Amino acid sequence: MAEKIKLGRTDLQVSRVCFGCWQMAANEYWPVVEEDRLTRAVRRAIELGINFFDTADAYGDGFAEQLLGRMLKGIPREAFVLATKVYHHWLGEPGSPRVGDLSGDYIVWECEQSLKRLGLDHIDLYQAHTFDVMTHLEETARAFEKLKKDGKIRFYGVSNFNVEQLRAANTFGHFDTVQPRYNLLDREFESSLGPLCMTHNLGVLTYSSLQYGLLTGKFTGTETFNDVRAMSPMFKGEAFRANVEKVNRLRPIGDRLGRSITQLSIRALLEHPAVHCAIVGIKNEKQIEEAAGALGWRLSREDYYAIRQATT
Ligand SMILES: NC(=O)c1ccc[n+]([C@@H]2O[C@H](COP(=O)([O-])OP(=O)(O)OC[C@H]3O[C@@H](n4cnc5c(N)ncnc54)[C@H](OP(=O)(O)O)[C@@H]3O)[C@@H](O)[C@H]2O)c1
Repeated sequence: MAEKIKLGRTDLQVSRVCFGCWQMAANEYWPVVEEDRLTRAVRRAIELGINFFDTADAYGDGFAEQLLGRMLKGIPREAFVLATKVYHHWLGEPGSPRVGDLSGDYIVWECEQSLKRLGLDHIDLYQAHTFDVMTHLEETARAFEKLKKDGKIRFYGVSNFNVEQLRAANTFGHFDTVQPRYNLLDREFESSLGPLCMTHNLGVLTYSSLQYGLLTGKFTGTETFNDVRAMSPMFKGEAFRANVEKVNRLRPIGDRLGRSITQLSIRALLEHPAVHCAIVGIKNEKQIEEAAGALGWRLSREDYYAIRQATT
């Protein structure tokens, strides 16, 4: 069964690979993936002991939550830990313009909508997706506390907050987890949120752990894209080719250790002492199987630093 960990100071026992569900959004960021294929991936994850799922109301304006809810139907509630997020308030039908919103009334109302879409009676981890400059943190914290007291959520946390925003948030509430961008090609977390998370034993789940797939070693640097990668400078021109070159330097290390580039990239994140889980965006069974192969073994200090050097 997959390696598990207590998520910081929460009581949640989660697999160290978290199944990322943004890829279920079916929009301009991640075009449609067949439902059957995603369902098989979710079922395979459960079989492998991957019990942690990360989604958001914003992924397809509710679509991804609805889909995940359908896929988890029939699976015992204690067999999975569900994380979702709130912030992007869409102003009409799905696909309509969105504004940031962490106001108290909106959080409480939107949590109810997420529960309906997911078909659940509680959310294990409810995350503020991004910092809302228009709402006082005391009001935001009070809303999350109310949801906790009412049994709608078990724990709450943040994503995309900087150090000062997180510090301030925790003077008003108990934001127990952090979801930062962190991967071998983007290590800002190490000098920003990482030390603070360790100080307060916050649960850390990294996103873009594979830098949109770049850290799997499957690209040559000549591809063009019709999804979120078309919007990323890391997948353009010289920068793309240079990134591919760095990733390819991992190949001999992987060959020597009998691990794929994907597995080395995930494992390296999990060796950081502040990191509990790596969220990996999954589209099919094969991808979750490969991600699960990053669990249950360790990188030696020598290999860890060789991996860092290769990707610098
Ligand atoms: N809080 C936030 O603001 C935020 C932002 C971004 C993401 N997230 C969360 O983090 C999750 C993951 O981050 P991400 O979406 O940025 O992407 P990611 O995990 O860095 O990369 C996902 C992509 O990697 C490829 N991939 C995965 N496993 C693979 C394998 N074994 N072999 C080959 N390719 C593989 C797939 O690409 P193909 O499409 O080529 O198959 C997939 O779409 C999301 O699903 C979401 O839950 C949160």
